[in-house]
Amino acid sequence: MNSIRLRSLPHLLLAFVLTFAGIQQASAQAAADVKKEGVAPGGAAAATPATAAAPAAGGGDAAAVAAGDALFKGNCAQCHAVNEQVVGPALAGITKRRPISWILPWVKNSSKVVASGDDYAVALFNKFNKQQMPSFALSDKEITSIVAYVTSEEGKGSQQAKAGPTAENQPTTAGGADEAGAGKYVDILLIVLVVVLIVLVVTLVIIGNLMKDVLRGRKDLDGRDVEILEQRFDWGKFYRSPVLRGIVGVVFALVLLYEGVQSVMAVGLTQGYQPTQPIAFSHKLHAGEHQINCAYCHTSVYKSKSANIPSANICMNCHSQIKTESPEIKKIYRAIERKQPIQWVRIHNLPDLAYFNHSQHTQVAGLQCQTCHGPIQNMEVVYQYSALTMGWCINCHREMPINSKDNKYYDNLVKLHDSKNAGAPFTVSSNGGTECSKCHY
Ligand code: HEC
Ligand code: HEC
Ligand code: HEC
Ligand code: HEC
Ligand code: HEC
Ligand code: HEC
Repeated sequence: MNSIRLRSLPHLLLAFVLTFAGIQQASAQAAADVKKEGVAPGGAAAATPATAAAPAAGGGDAAAVAAGDALFKGNCAQCHAVNEQVVGPALAGITKRRPISWILPWVKNSSKVVASGDDYAVALFNKFNKQQMPSFALSDKEITSIVAYVTSEEGKGSQQAKAGPTAENQPTTAGGADEAGAGKYVDILLIVLVVVLIVLVVTLVIIGNLMKDVLRGRKDLDGRDVEILEQRFDWGKFYRSPVLRGIVGVVFALVLLYEGVQSVMAVGLTQGYQPTQPIAFSHKLHAGEHQINCAYCHTSVYKSKSANIPSANICMNCHSQIKTESPEIKKIYRAIERKQPIQWVRIHNLPDLAYFNHSQHTQVAGLQCQTCHGPIQNMEVVYQYSALTMGWCINCHREMPINSKDNKYYDNLVKLHDSKNAGAPFTVSSNGGTECSKCHY
């Protein structure tokens, strides 16, 4: 044997990729199966019906996870993250804390579950300062797919560890560890399979080339045999092929179109806007670590249309004493000496055509700042968390039940609404909150 030629490489590669894809599919299935087995004994301490949800949910059903991903982003992400507390609790490990038979009615109408006196629900509701989660007109299947998405996200290695402490309501580690173990086992299996496959492919290539060499030594081959024997993959022809060019062209056009649509849709959108401020003021330090109440500085937020930005005098309540030597704090002193306000850069800014009132949302509706502004208490520098588009306002108004408790203004309206649409929640939009004139002058 003089040399080993890898002529049929393209074909082999294709076969290799296809086989690999097949194996991955199979092993994902295996992972799901292992998970089922792994969780059952470990999770027995936690509510058992929860595991019944897991196979349906966590069964590696990519379609359900994708659907759940979209539904989660559209409905839940403004208040929930999988591995982090935002307005509501981190949802990681929810199937271990609660059975699916609890989650379904909860998402459809959480206030009903709380009102029913369910111990867990009442405790959770109180823990989150009686913040009411909106009701969702989602089907069982849709909610299950959201749960599937949550489960798939929490399964992600290091995030799982992070999720541990946030999911504090009940011990969840047993099931989690089992799942991680199963994941590792599948990974090793996969690697072994890949190695075996590579060895197989290389062996086949070597055998193929050996046989060709033997055949070449024979004199009794006719023209056709030689043609087959010396067959090569013609890359030049491949590149010139109109089909390939067509495909590349179409893909290129689609990418351009997609980017174009994305950038047009983003015109006027300032979500994520995070300007540098003149003083390195940190909400994480003040509102997070030192737990200073938002309204201590934004004094008008519960009383009037706008939330004010605090004047330098408010800073001085503390900084006449605290950190007086810091260069950042000296900027406050300079502003006061010059009798000029600190020039904070405005972040949130609706166009003049829209009317938004803070007190209506914070005082009357009882919404938390974080619902709209995100985890401000974790922000070193504030950024615009929500899109502030009309669709964003309207979506919430469609879903959010009005906080009518202890508010006489709503007593008759609620009665009227209930007599007409028994069972349907009394949302902001049932009270006219999606009429143009409510938000446009
Ligand atoms: C406007 C904010 C908000 C939205 C939107 C929201 N939730 Fe919640 N959710 C909460 C709050 C707050 C709690 C804590 C309980 C309470 O105060 O009522 C909660 C609790 C939960 C719980 C119980 C968590 C636990 O640890 O036991 C689940 C499950 C849940 N939400 C699922 C969802 C799903 C699914 C969606 C989307 C379809 C969603 N939530 C949308 C605010 C929200
Ligand atoms: C110690 C005073 C102080 C406290 C407490 C405080 N803030 Fe602020 N906040 C400021 C200052 C100063 C600015 C302007 C500079 C900036 O954007 O960081 C600001 C800016 C903001 C902005 C952006 C305003 C804009 O330009 O659009 C939001 C939103 C906000 N705060 C929300 C909150 C919330 C929510 C809390 C409570 C969790 C809070 N703040 C607590 C002082 C405070
Ligand atoms: C209720 C008290 C209080 C108020 C009001 C307050 N701060 Fe602070 N601030 C603190 C505390 C406490 C620290 C942390 C000091 C430390 O790290 O030792 C701090 C730290 C800072 C720092 C970091 C200083 C450094 O160099 O580490 C800056 C900048 C700052 N504050 C700016 C402001 C501004 C601007 C305002 C007004 C909008 C303000 N603070 C209002 C209590 C306050
Ligand atoms: C329902 C959503 C929502 C809630 C809840 C909410 N905000 Fe806002 N916030 C907004 C919007 C929208 C703007 C932009 C207003 C504008 O440009 O007229 C804004 C702007 C601000 C600003 C910039 C100044 C202003 O009024 O334009 C501050 C500061 C602020 N919010 C603080 C708070 C604080 C503190 C809380 C909680 C007590 C809170 N917000 C609750 C939606 C909300
Ligand atoms: C997170 C949910 C949420 C978001 C986001 C939100 N709102 Fe609201 N909004 C409410 C609730 C709840 C009420 C009902 C308050 C009450 O009880 O009167 C309300 C009431 C209102 C009202 C009074 C409606 C009436 O019937 O009198 C106006 C106007 C309004 N919102 C404007 C806006 C605008 C403009 C935006 C977007 C910039 C917005 N809202 C975003 C929850 C929201
Ligand atoms: C809950 C509040 C709310 C309601 C109800 C509402 N809008 Fe809006 N609308 C807004 C906000 C906020 C903006 C600004 C959005 C932005 O800057 O992207 C806006 C923007 C607009 C714009 C300007 C779009 C642009 O790109 O400048 C038009 C036109 C408009 N709304 C029409 C309507 C009509 C028609 C209705 C009734 C069917 C309506 N709106 C109901 C909140 C509302």
